[in-house]
Amino acid sequence: MTKLEQTAALDRVGDRLQRAVQATLRPQRVRDLLHGVFLGHPLHPAMVQVPVGAWISAAVVDLLPGQRRAATTLVALGTVSAVPAAVAGLNDWAELSRDQRRVGLVHAAANTVGLTLYAGSLAARLNGRHGVGRALAYLGLGAASAGAYLGGHLAYKQGAQVSQSVSELHRMSDGWQSVAELAGLPQRKLVTREVDDVSVILYRHGDEVTVMLERCPHQSGPLGEGEVQEIDGHACVVCPWHGSAFRLNGGEVVHGPSATDQQILPTRIVDGTLQTRLP
Ligand code: FES
Repeated sequence: MTKLEQTAALDRVGDRLQRAVQATLRPQRVRDLLHGVFLGHPLHPAMVQVPVGAWISAAVVDLLPGQRRAATTLVALGTVSAVPAAVAGLNDWAELSRDQRRVGLVHAAANTVGLTLYAGSLAARLNGRHGVGRALAYLGLGAASAGAYLGGHLAYKQGAQVSQSVSELHRMSDGWQSVAELAGLPQRKLVTREVDDVSVILYRHGDEVTVMLERCPHQSGPLGEGEVQEIDGHACVVCPWHGSAFRLNGGEVVHGPSATDQQILPTRIVDGTLQTRLP
């Protein structure tokens, strides 16, 4: 798997596919929908439950006598539902780091082989060739299982589409901690500070101050170097790396590729000093 992460030969295909995906999946609200911004979690892992469940169920039903119709229905459900799941996955993949994209490319290739075999299985079953349909489905399950293994590596080892910011909280100690003098904070500008050794951004609006983790949940980009933009009437910080936007008054994600909100920390003012603590 480490060798696969380092296989630069995959980049020729990967870079072309990335450009094609980014040019095709527009506008931004379509990309946000496919990332799962509306859910607050990535959409692709949720969507793949349908084809995986249907295909595994078909593999079991295929072992039972007199269940051809049920098996054909399950194969059809899995095959049709795999298409939007794949589109959501490609949308996430196009915003990953290079090492993640290499593994993701092979993940997508294995699943494409699986999907093609299942489409062949469905066609064979609909033409009454159930033995061929069953064989193609088991081959398809093997390819999709290899794809699922690579997907697990992407998520659990490489951290693709997993929040990169919230684990920062584990390095903060309990209790209120002073971060800045309120009088010294400029209005409506991002200021970066450290709490213990965790980087946070401060954003003052009037006498209220937002304290937000600085590390972007998507790929750890420095939100402190991002721009403040008004989006849908709310001041938002836009990540300088891939453009995820988070509301500065609550941390909600407004635009992907991040599908998760950014963590806001509680605040209080004591004798003119801004303090913050763990949520
Ligand atoms: S690191 Fe990718 S959007 Fe912030």
